[in-house]
Amino acid sequence: MMRAIALFVLLGAAAPVRIDLPDAFVPFVDIPGGPAADAVNANCLGCHSAEMVLTQPRLSPIAWQGEIDKMRAAYKAPVDPGDDAAILAWLVAMQARDNRTDSGG
Ligand code: HEC
Repeated sequence: MMRAIALFVLLGAAAPVRIDLPDAFVPFVDIPGGPAADAVNANCLGCHSAEMVLTQPRLSPIAWQGEIDKMRAAYKAPVDPGDDAAILAWLVAMQARDNRTDSGG
């Protein structure tokens, strides 16, 4: 019993514990004046971080659709087909907003 109390005190002394959430839990953000991030947040954070998606070279809408299809086919991502258009709109708007130059890829 004493030992249990000592352990409790020890753990209590260690608090507060700062917890850094992994990237996977940092949600995508809405684009001001553009599409909401709901669809990407609902479908694209299950397996990897937002960074995986955000660090891609600028892709055409067709190439982005290819990525969505690839997630579904290759990685069995349960992406709701009804969300494809919203996901695509967000991805394209996100990159347009970034104003990054084409990397050639
Ligand atoms: C079922 C799991 C899963 C889901 C859900 C998922 N992905 Fe992926 N994704 C992966 C895996 C696995 C990789 C490859 C990781 C690696 O290479 O380290 C990947 C890689 C990527 C890449 C990097 C380029 C590439 O083709 O490898 C992009 C971009 C990407 N995902 C976008 C998306 C988008 C957009 C969504 C939502 C529509 C999504 N992912 C949902 C599993 C998933």
